[in-house]
Amino acid sequence: MAFRWQNEQLPLLVAPVRIDRMIGKWGGWGKRRVRERVEAGEVLLNGELVTEGTVEVGKFDRVELGGEIVQANVRRSLMLHKPAGVVSATTDAEHQTVIDLVHEPWAGELHLAGRLDRFTTGLVVLTNDSSFSESLTEPERKIGKRYLVTVDGPIHGDVIAAFEEGMWFAKEQVVTAPAEVELLSADQCRLTIYEGKHHQVKRMFARFGIKVIALHREAIGGIELPDDLPSGAWRLLP
Ligand code: URA
Repeated sequence: MAFRWQNEQLPLLVAPVRIDRMIGKWGGWGKRRVRERVEAGEVLLNGELVTEGTVEVGKFDRVELGGEIVQANVRRSLMLHKPAGVVSATTDAEHQTVIDLVHEPWAGELHLAGRLDRFTTGLVVLTNDSSFSESLTEPERKIGKRYLVTVDGPIHGDVIAAFEEGMWFAKEQVVTAPAEVELLSADQCRLTIYEGKHHQVKRMFARFGIKVIALHREAIGGIELPDDLPSGAWRLLP
């Protein structure tokens, strides 16, 4: 089956769009010609015969016409183990990006569901499905992000109490949701936060004059970075 459009050259359409308009654009045809093709039973949506040109097509629906693929965008989400020094961006003039680590023809379709600072390591989720990324990043959803944090000084009780209570961030005019702290040693903890403010973990510790010296994201909601996923590698999410 031939592709008239190469998928990697196609911007993913902002769904939904009417199937007759999509086909008209694809074939460079007017309304009458499109109607004829629909009436001739040549148009399939996800394998089913289309009888009405007004049917709406989502970004990840498959559309075929007379044996040719009009749209076959595949939904893809993946977890990536970000190494230190790689930037959480889709393009960067200076540094390697997380997208550069996904050596696939469709890598350019992906966007990030939450960023990490350049020297933070660990779990990054990439997807071409904006409803999935929104489900992880929308502040109202209060998705937990769990970090392993190593700092340069003792994590004393006042620090833990402040984190667990919530902290005022003047720049964003918000009080952070109560965080969870599991103290592992005097200078290391597991910290779960429910927002994704810029440099949030470093700023939380900086309030107490404590510097974060290593930061590693272990989980976002129910998505855990597997122990056997090496730094720089990625794995598709179901
Ligand atoms: N908080 C930070 O300070 N940096 C990160 O990369 C993530 C959370």
